[in-house]
Amino acid sequence: MVVPTDKIKSGQVLAEEVRDVNGRLLLSKGHTIEAKHIRVFKIWGISEVNLFADDHHDDTSDPLMDPAMIEQTKKSVATLFCHVDLEHPAIKEIYRIAVQFRYKHNIIVKDDNLTVGNQSIPRQEREKDFLQKLQKKNIILPEIPSVASELKEVIENPRSSAEHIARVVSRSPSLTAVLLRIVNSSVYGLPSKISTVSHAVSLIGAQEISALALGVSVLSIFKNLPKESIDMHSFLRHSLVCGLLSRVFAAHKNVPQTEQLFVSGLLHDLGRLVFYIYFPDESRNVLAHSRNRNKLLYKEETDYLGCDHAQLGVQLMKQWKLPLILENNVLYHHKPSEAQQSVPATIVHLADIIVNSLGIGSSGEKFIPRLDYDAWENLELSPSSFETVIEQAIHQFQGLESILQV
Ligand SMILES: [Fe+2]
Ligand SMILES: [Fe+2]
Repeated sequence: MVVPTDKIKSGQVLAEEVRDVNGRLLLSKGHTIEAKHIRVFKIWGISEVNLFADDHHDDTSDPLMDPAMIEQTKKSVATLFCHVDLEHPAIKEIYRIAVQFRYKHNIIVKDDNLTVGNQSIPRQEREKDFLQKLQKKNIILPEIPSVASELKEVIENPRSSAEHIARVVSRSPSLTAVLLRIVNSSVYGLPSKISTVSHAVSLIGAQEISALALGVSVLSIFKNLPKESIDMHSFLRHSLVCGLLSRVFAAHKNVPQTEQLFVSGLLHDLGRLVFYIYFPDESRNVLAHSRNRNKLLYKEETDYLGCDHAQLGVQLMKQWKLPLILENNVLYHHKPSEAQQSVPATIVHLADIIVNSLGIGSSGEKFIPRLDYDAWENLELSPSSFETVIEQAIHQFQGLESILQV
């Protein structure tokens, strides 16, 4: 709905970006308007803006939707929410959006039949066996690419110049290509095409570009590894949408360094890749156990293997000496209230719950992970913002999906 500038109220959400007469972006789509934005619009002579309607109506009452199919979708999606409280306002809203989204995109809830091997091995032995294997395998866990390790230094140095970053990134043509694809996508919505890394740095910022390049190069390590026990494309879709949701939530909450949140979301289930690729037998058993007993996969990992994918992922991140904030967000993405920096970890936590609910890709978890209620309260976010944030992240995902092929 188009609203004159003097009728805008704080808290309303932009349905279309606002640019000044010279085409300079003042506020992007999906932002919640604050008093300072209204002042800026007035200063720049913006007479009207396009806003989302305030009321979140129930789309499932759309006459074009088949009521029987909607009912069936509601029932099947509800089975995924068996570990969370559907009456909690945040979960209730996520469930409502998930039903709508899955119905529209025909994302069905699969009934897997998985078989377990080695059932007779006692738990203690399994743990010992796994940890011993982990120690041995640690020697051959992938090394961080040299470009990523140089980027890490760039991130840690606030005085890094655009030329320095461009020099480091340009050493890897595939990284340069992916990075330019990201900055030219709808994620940034820049008016003109960016064709060099140094131009990207000057527009988006040195820290942001380095963080982005670091995340992309870390994930690319796993591209060429054997992956019989994992659908890598599905895994990357889950990771990418979690990253985008985290980034949009961070922007929405005015959390600085949104790219660190993007990278945290991108890497949050990194430990699962290690499980799947280096321990395919154990992974299959853990998956089968969790499905057959209707248990959450990350709980089953701890019960069966003695550690979960978040701990394993952080072990790898420590080995690579990645920035501490990434460790914080990855280690606590299933229990953010225990994190030293709880807000960014809660954002990744929420993004993961949402991407699991929508069913875009998968990292193996069938059920919706538990919401950490304390962390949620601490975040001070209204569930009414979810729809807009999700819409924005999905829009960005569609413009970015091609990077998954690289
Ligand atoms: Fe996870
Ligand atoms: Fe996840």
